[in-house]
Amino acid sequence: MREPLDAYIASRCRRVDAALDRFLPKARVKPVTIHKAMRYSLFAGGKRLRPVLCLAAAEACGGREENALPLACAVECIHTYSLIHDDLPCMDDDDFRRGRPTSHKVFGEGIAVLAGDALLTAAFEMAARAKPSRRYAGADMVRELAVRSGSLFLVGGQVADLEGEGRRATRAQLRWIHERKTSALLAGAIRLGAMSANATPAALRALGRFGANLGMAFQVIDDILDATKTSAELGKTAGKDAKAGKATYPSVFGMKRAEAEARRFTAGAVRALRPFGTRGARLRELADHLLNRQK
Ligand code: IPE
Ligand code: IPE
Ligand code: MG
Ligand code: MG
Ligand code: MG
Repeated sequence: MREPLDAYIASRCRRVDAALDRFLPKARVKPVTIHKAMRYSLFAGGKRLRPVLCLAAAEACGGREENALPLACAVECIHTYSLIHDDLPCMDDDDFRRGRPTSHKVFGEGIAVLAGDALLTAAFEMAARAKPSRRYAGADMVRELAVRSGSLFLVGGQVADLEGEGRRATRAQLRWIHERKTSALLAGAIRLGAMSANATPAALRALGRFGANLGMAFQVIDDILDATKTSAELGKTAGKDAKAGKATYPSVFGMKRAEAEARRFTAGAVRALRPFGTRGARLRELADHLLNRQK
C-alpha cells in the first residue's frame, strides 16, 4: 500500500527541513544577523513543493532520496531568495509572507537583500554537494540550476513581470512571463531529481515537459488565489496583483478561462507522465494536489 499523499508530503518536508538545517550556518554563527535572516525566511513555513517534487521525480526514476536531497534543498534556497527579493519595496512591496512579516520588515532592506544573496549563493554550495550519477556530472546539475535561476529564466521573468505592470499584456507575453519567473525553476527541481537518479534522456525530457506544464498551472493558480482568497488564508497579502496592475491569468483571460487554463496545463503535465506508467503515480497525485490547493 502506498503512503497517503499528506503523510508522504509531511515526511519529505521533514527530511528537507532537517537537511536545510544541516547545510546552513547556525543562527548563532557570526555575523548573526544574516544567518538569522536566512533562517527566518527559510523556516517560515513554506509549502516546500519544489523540493518534494524533486524527491518524487528521483523516486519515479528509481533513484535514492539521499542523492536528490542536496538538489532539493538548493532549489528551495533559490525559491526563498526569490521571494525575499520579490517582496522588497522596489519590487512587489509586500509586508506579509509565509504567515509572517517579510524579511525587510523585520531586518531592514539592506539585510533582506543580503539574505537573498546569501541564500542564492548557499544554493550553489548545496548543489555542488550532489553526487554525480552515471549520465550526469555535478557540473551538469549546477548548470541546470544556474540557467533556470538566471537572466534567461527566473530573473528574466521577474524583469518582464515588473516591466509589465500597468500595461495590457497579450496572452503570449503573459505566458512568456509565467514560464520564466515560475515554471522554469519548478521544472528544474523535477529535472534535477531525475538527473540525480540517472534518468535516461527520454525520461528527463518527459519530466521536463511534466514540470513545465505543472509550473505554468502553479503560477496560474497563484494568480487565481491572489484574486479570490484572503491574506489570512494565503499567509501573504491577497489582492495585490490587481492593485499593482500585474499581468495575470485572471486579468488577461478572465477568471473562468484562467481556471480552465490551470486545468489544461495540469492535464498536459499528467499526459507527459504516460511513459512512466505506475511509476508516475505519485507525481500524478502531486499534480492533482497542486491543482486543488487552497494556498
Ligand atoms: C510563491 O510560491 C511564489 C510563486 C512562484 C508563485 P509558493 O506558493 O510555492 O510559496 P511557498 O514556498 O509555499 O511560500
Ligand atoms: C513570484 O511571483 C515569482 C518569483 C518569486 C520568482 P509572485 O509575485 O506572483 O509571487 P507572490 O504572489 O508574491 O508569492
Ligand atoms: Mg512578483
Ligand atoms: Mg509577489
Ligand atoms: Mg502571486
